[in-house]
Amino acid sequence: MKFKQIIPLLILVMLLTACSDDENVVTRIIVGGPTNPEGNGSDPEFLKDFANFKIGNIVSATKLASSSAGNAKFREVLGNDYNSITAENDMKMANMFPSPDTYDWSDGDAIVAYAKENNLRVHGHALVWHSSIPGWLSSFQGTDAEFEAQIQGYVKATVAHFALEKDAEGNSVVTGWDAVNEYFDGGAIRSSLFTQRIGEDYINKIFTWAREADSDVKLFYNDFNVAGEPVKRAKIIALVNDMISNNIPIDGVGMQMHFNYDWPTSDIPLAIQQISDLGLLVHASELDVRANPNSDITNLTQERAAQQATQYQNTAYYYTTTVPANQQYGITIWGFRDQDSWRFNNGNDWPLLYDNDFNTKASYNGFVEGLKGNI
Ligand code: XIL
Repeated sequence: MKFKQIIPLLILVMLLTACSDDENVVTRIIVGGPTNPEGNGSDPEFLKDFANFKIGNIVSATKLASSSAGNAKFREVLGNDYNSITAENDMKMANMFPSPDTYDWSDGDAIVAYAKENNLRVHGHALVWHSSIPGWLSSFQGTDAEFEAQIQGYVKATVAHFALEKDAEGNSVVTGWDAVNEYFDGGAIRSSLFTQRIGEDYINKIFTWAREADSDVKLFYNDFNVAGEPVKRAKIIALVNDMISNNIPIDGVGMQMHFNYDWPTSDIPLAIQQISDLGLLVHASELDVRANPNSDITNLTQERAAQQATQYQNTAYYYTTTVPANQQYGITIWGFRDQDSWRFNNGNDWPLLYDNDFNTKASYNGFVEGLKGNI
């Protein structure tokens, strides 16, 4: 072959190489799906750009303030992929109610300040939860009426306090609160300090006090296994309907969604449908998916990663396609790196969307596919 004949061949080879580079870019930056109305019109690249509702994750005041390299990366990923945050623990009662009539909102304030500066929404979590009670309150020696006065004071002061910080449009940075977390235990009302000291209707009182403190903030009932335990779900639905008919100010239901790779299955779409049918806001509030709930693997196999990805995809898909747009409060993932997860299980599980170096996993891609409406 003469040199002149080789030139077109070389050009062809160069073109083909350039094309395959393009293909790589295309598979990395996934195209299609809804364009974020707040976006810049270019192809969506990060989680929040694939949804028309908020995509959240959890934070702590410590991590937001830390200057370590790991936490700088965490804040970068937070800013790219998310537009909503929930405090993992900092805004719970055990942290904010150190002694009678005394409130410490400093961690929550730092989170709200960060959110305000970075255009993030804050979801308040959680005013009353049987699992986050300060020590002094557990052993409170006062009368039941005095106990109730402490709770009322805390709820009203806390909600009023976090209503103060406003975003550029004049809306509170904290847009919602899980007013009561985990009122049920299976199909029964959970026996707790609150039922014992105030009575089973404490739930109605918490919502009413919160509303008195802020007429705008969205008030949620939040629980786990709303998908996964149909009997519990039926109780929750009956409770919420009762609250609505008794004019108790409830705006939404948080479905925690602490799932396993193989559980729940057909109950996910059914649960999302039934909760949507209440007509209130729906928050997928604490999504994570255990890949190794039975400890039958020692590292995240490709097969298990794919099953976990499918579970994330299904959840995002059914939320996106089932919940009416005006009821979509958002989906919040419960953690960033696997090692940050409360379900890390000493390195024996990998429940989240990023590995320990913040690389996105198959679960991340599955979640994106679901947000795009692909099943
Ligand atoms: C968990 C946190 O992730 C842990 O760090 C903490 O030790 C316990 O609480 N349901 C909830 C969340 O509503 O607040 C819980 O978060 C997980 C279960």
